[in-house]
Amino acid sequence: MPAPRHLDDTPPDGTPSTEDPPDPRWALILGVSSGTGAAIAEAVARKPGLGVFGVHRGRYPDTARQVEARVREAGRDVFLRQADASTPDSAEAGADVLLERAGPRSVKLFVHAIAGASVGRFLSEGPDRLHPRRVQRTFDCMAHSFVYWTQALVKRDLLAPDARLLGLQNPLDQTHLGNTGLISAAKAALEMYVRHLAMELGPRGHRVNLLKFGTVMTPALHHVYAPEALAHLEARHAAMTPAGRMCTVEEVARFVSVLTGDEAGWFNGATIDFSGGMTLRLMDLVLNP
Ligand SMILES: NC(=O)c1ccc[n+]([C@@H]2O[C@H](COP(=O)([O-])OP(=O)(O)OC[C@H]3O[C@@H](n4cnc5c(N)ncnc54)[C@H](OP(=O)(O)O)[C@@H]3O)[C@@H](O)[C@H]2O)c1
Repeated sequence: MPAPRHLDDTPPDGTPSTEDPPDPRWALILGVSSGTGAAIAEAVARKPGLGVFGVHRGRYPDTARQVEARVREAGRDVFLRQADASTPDSAEAGADVLLERAGPRSVKLFVHAIAGASVGRFLSEGPDRLHPRRVQRTFDCMAHSFVYWTQALVKRDLLAPDARLLGLQNPLDQTHLGNTGLISAAKAALEMYVRHLAMELGPRGHRVNLLKFGTVMTPALHHVYAPEALAHLEARHAAMTPAGRMCTVEEVARFVSVLTGDEAGWFNGATIDFSGGMTLRLMDLVLNP
């Protein structure tokens, strides 16, 4: 296997030169076919130039095809697996395919970008009651699967030297929305998994972090909200956020490229706040509307 290409070999615009030898390293991205996962796949294929092994269940076939095309345009290999990524068995089966495809010590970046959560209230008597099955599914998707995949990667010696493992968090640990208690609880579990895995994987040279960012517009949001509701959401975020606008998935994705680089190698067990100060002004907005 050729030696890994140094990060500095990538031209400043992130476009791989045709003279570059192909980078043998891969990004494993759970939730690759939409929103944040899709944007990260495209960004890390350009810089530092990773192949993309992604998992999704097939509900966004157009974006999945677009991700494949853009990764190939960047000159990188791509393999998208259609499967549920949330269970221990699916992590084992997915890691087997990844090993066959990419070989040992090939995963430079693992990003957990699946979004599968129930909104509702714990004590509701209505259809939004958070009954045990919803609790279990939400924790499997949003938290436990991070551990299952990490265990499956380590068991097969799939992590490349100095690998980066990344969970994604929102600012709902700082301020709460009434019907998102289950999501916040699962993200709290994810945060603790990240810290403990950082301690366990640190001595092996790997880094495990949680990236926190504010609301970004994704196809899923467009699917869920009517256009007027989306305009309202955007306006309220503009009022809240010091920069006067929402963050974009592309900004988040470019920052993941940075976190994959040598310069970010000392982050470990960290919750990295990339929220642009989204919750700083909430009290001000309530008291001085
Ligand atoms: N969007 C935001 O504003 C925001 C802000 C902060 C943090 N985050 C975090 O970022 C992550 C991604 O969120 P997003 O909004 O970008 O999500 P999204 O646009 O809804 O995309 C979710 C992706 O996960 C896949 N997926 C969902 N459940 C899956 C499962 N069980 N197995 C395999 N794939 C699955 C989806 O494809 P299929 O449905 O076809 O499987 C899709 O590719 C989440 O952890 C979220 O909490 C999001």
